[in-house]
Amino acid sequence: MNQKKGQWGSNFGFLMAAIGSAVGLGNIWGFSYKMGKAGGFAFLLIYLIIVVFVGYVIMVSELALGRSAGKGVVHAYRAIGKRYTWIGMMGALSPFLILAFYSVLGGYCLRYAAGNIGDLLGLPFGTGGAGAMGAEAASAASNDFFFRFVADQPSAIGYHLLFIGLTILIVVGGVSKGIESFSKVAMPALFIMLCITIVRSVTLPGAAEGLRFMFQPDFRAFQGTGWISVLAIAGGQAFFSLSLGMGIMVTYGSYLSKNENLERSALIIPIADTVVAIMAGLAVMPAVFALGMEPDSGPMLLFVTLQAVFSSMGTIGPLFGFLFYTLVFIAAITSSISILEAVVSPWMDWTEEKYGTERVSRKKATLIVGGGALLLGCIVAADGLGTTGIFQPLGFCWLDFFDLLSEGFMMPLGSMMTAVLLGWLIGPERVINEVEIGSEFRTKRFYIFCLRFVTPFVMLLVLIGQIDQFFHLGIF
Ligand code: PFF
Repeated sequence: MNQKKGQWGSNFGFLMAAIGSAVGLGNIWGFSYKMGKAGGFAFLLIYLIIVVFVGYVIMVSELALGRSAGKGVVHAYRAIGKRYTWIGMMGALSPFLILAFYSVLGGYCLRYAAGNIGDLLGLPFGTGGAGAMGAEAASAASNDFFFRFVADQPSAIGYHLLFIGLTILIVVGGVSKGIESFSKVAMPALFIMLCITIVRSVTLPGAAEGLRFMFQPDFRAFQGTGWISVLAIAGGQAFFSLSLGMGIMVTYGSYLSKNENLERSALIIPIADTVVAIMAGLAVMPAVFALGMEPDSGPMLLFVTLQAVFSSMGTIGPLFGFLFYTLVFIAAITSSISILEAVVSPWMDWTEEKYGTERVSRKKATLIVGGGALLLGCIVAADGLGTTGIFQPLGFCWLDFFDLLSEGFMMPLGSMMTAVLLGWLIGPERVINEVEIGSEFRTKRFYIFCLRFVTPFVMLLVLIGQIDQFFHLGIF
């Protein structure tokens, strides 16, 4: 017989796990590069508005739906009505696809952490750029290292296996003993490392330019229909970053006890996630400007640009490089365990329904789901961001293809449907009653208003915006 699926040991532990899920590559990588591309301050402003008016609303809804059903994402939507099961199914499929590429990127972080150790100790697996003279030489060395690594299939696959193996190990440990225990140590450690990196970054000569880029009001990006595209980019980023629309918060909510204050948790998680995103911006932007690099290099910012920054910092550079990429690795793994859990959980529910107490064990479910994502991830790793010439679906590199299906399509569609469902079709009572079990629902009127009138509209724009971006349709 198998025991209960799991329950959080403490509210602090739950918060660390939920914040750990939210804080990930999205904050440190996505937030900085999208801010770099979408006009600095203009992006920041819209991002904050979306987190308050849309992110918070879906956060409360998902946590409440999970706790009221006491089940993973598929059964939580099915509990509302059989015909809504498909929304829950998207909520389980999406994280599975995300895990396939997220763990490859997590593997890249491990490679970079190792590479900086190599630079520090003069070992052969270094990045080869340490002590480069000037920004140009450092950029060239960093570019070269990056493209050689991603195209080196055995190496990229090896690091992916290491990353996903660690993820599986933690999830096999269970909700309280695995996920919660790990997050309770990892998140404070990440916070301290981030603070150290910020101090280094903002004290570099010339760092003020980066701060100006982030915080000086500048609305040029809003011109014409520019504001719609900033809205779509910021909306997609906010949802990915908050781990919304992908079954995660429903799953984590289902392990919460009835006397926890859902409203307070739904406020703390987005605040913490946003603070860390801004802190990550503070760690990245000032350094990028101080060393004369470009902030708008897109996805290359995290690896190529930042590694060049560390290489050109002199002898201390690799130490900061190691610290920084270890921090990103921690952020990534606390997210990837939540992604895996969101798929494992509905499967355990499903077998429980069929076989009762003889349902699949956590260990077996995790190994099979994790194993599937591991195999899919091998394709992403072997593809090397489209550099190795293997078959590419619809002309996308595999990473972008999985990202399109999950973050680009299912995530905004699922969130929009959740808002329409709770706002209009069945009404918000289910969520309100659940929140009010534990505490007074102080933001109830704000919640209902945003759920009905703001969230569906913004999510529709995000959906169109994401498809527009992926297919370069030029709608906005
Ligand atoms: N929120 C994580 C990040 O910002 O990197 C990523 C993430 C976690 C995405 C969980 C999706 C998800 F379901």
